[in-house]
Amino acid sequence: MKGFLTAAFLLIAAATSGVQSAPVAAAPTPFVIAVLPDTQYYSESYPEIYTNQTQWIVANAAARNIKFVIHEGDITNLNTPAQWKNAAKSMSYLTAGNGSKPTHTGNPESYGIGKTANNGVKVWEKMVRKHSNILMVLNGHMYDGADINSGRLTGTGDAGNQVYQMLADYQAGPNGGNGFLRLLTFDPAASTISVETYSPYTNESKTDDGNKFVYTGVNLLPLANKN
Ligand SMILES: *[C@@H]1O[C@H](CO)[C@@H](O)[C@H](O)[C@H]1NC(C)=O
Ligand SMILES: *[C@@H]1O[C@H](CO)[C@@H](O)[C@H](O)[C@H]1NC(C)=O
Ligand SMILES: *[C@@H]1O[C@H](CO)[C@@H](O)[C@H](O)[C@H]1NC(C)=O
Repeated sequence: MKGFLTAAFLLIAAATSGVQSAPVAAAPTPFVIAVLPDTQYYSESYPEIYTNQTQWIVANAAARNIKFVIHEGDITNLNTPAQWKNAAKSMSYLTAGNGSKPTHTGNPESYGIGKTANNGVKVWEKMVRKHSNILMVLNGHMYDGADINSGRLTGTGDAGNQVYQMLADYQAGPNGGNGFLRLLTFDPAASTISVETYSPYTNESKTDDGNKFVYTGVNLLPLANKN
């Protein structure tokens, strides 16, 4: 339980160069990865919102071709059994039927405790920039009491590869985030990753530049070939 601390980073590795040169068998279909940012206040005070998110994902998995669910940031606020119980119940809907499997990545900050902790810059310097097969980094938990909620940065790795880095964290908003989640649509044929921010709880979308955007010119064929 101590492993879940303050921020989570997800690394999506595109592929090895060997796979990259393989021929494409069929037109690759766009697919969606759903991202659940910091659910800590839902686990503490609004479990119905967390459940609303996961049930919506399951209900829309087929129609939207949602293939995977990722959690980023903190799952609980105070790491108590009661909050983990709430979180486990909300997450359980994802694995109950044919829904996508939830995953929560390791937290680089937890690899070093206190003063030696790795922050985003250190993770970039020590690891991300050095590996040409890292395509994307998802970040949560940038919270200082203000509703920062989004951020992004495209970096260039040592091998010249683009690394798409994005932050989403709505916990400072109403009701611990009001149910906003992210939908990343990977379209290998169009070479795009489209990012949307939607709340099934309020049925609203955030459409500002930080929360709705498209990366273009992204070579996703290695991912498509791996399917
Ligand atoms: C799982 O998938 C099968 C076949 O697509 C479908 O008949 C069934 O209703 C699904 N179950 C759930 C819980 O979604
Ligand atoms: C999510 O909550 C909203 C508002 O209460 C409701 O209209 C919607 O049906 C809920 N969706 C799911 C999947 O529970
Ligand atoms: C959500 O809002 C859209 C309009 O933005 C509307 O067409 C749709 O019916 C609403 N869905 C629900 C479940 O209320």
